[in-house]
Amino acid sequence: MANSASYDSSQQPAAVDRQQAQNVGWIGARNIVKSFRNGGVSIDVLKGIQLNLTIGESVAIVGASGIGKSTLLHILGTLDRPDSGTLEFKGEDVFKYDDVKLARFRNRTIGFVFQFHHLLPEFSALENTMMPALISGLSKPEAAALAEEILLRVGLQDRLQHRVGKLSGGEQQRVALARALILKPAILLADEPTGNLDNANSDQVHQLILELNQELSMTVVVVTHNMELASYMSRSVTIAAGQLQNV
Ligand SMILES: Nc1ncnc2c1ncn2[C@@H]1O[C@H](COP(=O)(O)OP(=O)(O)OP(=O)(O)O)[C@@H](O)[C@H]1O
Ligand SMILES: [Mg+2]
Repeated sequence: MANSASYDSSQQPAAVDRQQAQNVGWIGARNIVKSFRNGGVSIDVLKGIQLNLTIGESVAIVGASGIGKSTLLHILGTLDRPDSGTLEFKGEDVFKYDDVKLARFRNRTIGFVFQFHHLLPEFSALENTMMPALISGLSKPEAAALAEEILLRVGLQDRLQHRVGKLSGGEQQRVALARALILKPAILLADEPTGNLDNANSDQVHQLILELNQELSMTVVVVTHNMELASYMSRSVTIAAGQLQNV
């Protein structure tokens, strides 16, 4: 099986297709190491993760509970920094950016669905979804129009003004997905995006992720225990003992 995680640019044939050359190693996590210290005990969670993602690729990350899936996704999403290692986007090490540049990169390039949503319960579905668009500098009416469009696609057109705290768990999950997708990010990182959904709603979310993956060549990384969702991705990788293994 082709393993892009082990890609080495020195092995690239001279006459490689230009598009392919641009795509290879578009996002590269190299030697990502991350430990946590708790009450004097250190847990070595990630011990040298290598992952290359190409434009439009879809990857499932699987592995046991507590193994480090969310930790890795947060680092890929630049929400957390590794102890060592680099994250390259189109050849630039994004952890070298200052905080303002990194925040702008994250806002414009990455859509993140958190395992535990992190929505604002006192605000409506529409307001929660608009947030990244407002941060990016769009006007309120522009942000609201985009939010309505994406909330319709996740099947929440009748819940626009509902306070998120009053929505069901599955509805909240779909708002979290809409918020991640509103700016049509180049990269969608989703941590258990269908964890709280019934079969019908899971299917709808799978469908939407796959449609956007195709439509926008959106690179998708999902952490999931849902083997059906994993099977829709172009490949799966497993975290075990702090390393990534291809499945
Ligand atoms: N901020 C933190 N401080 C201390 N320990 C942490 C922190 N975040 C994660 N950990 C520990 O790191 C390990 C990996 O956690 P992580 O959340 O990445 O697991 P996971 O694979 O996503 O698990 P799950 O499938 O249950 O969501 C766990 O043992 C967890 O307790
Ligand atoms: Mg997790």
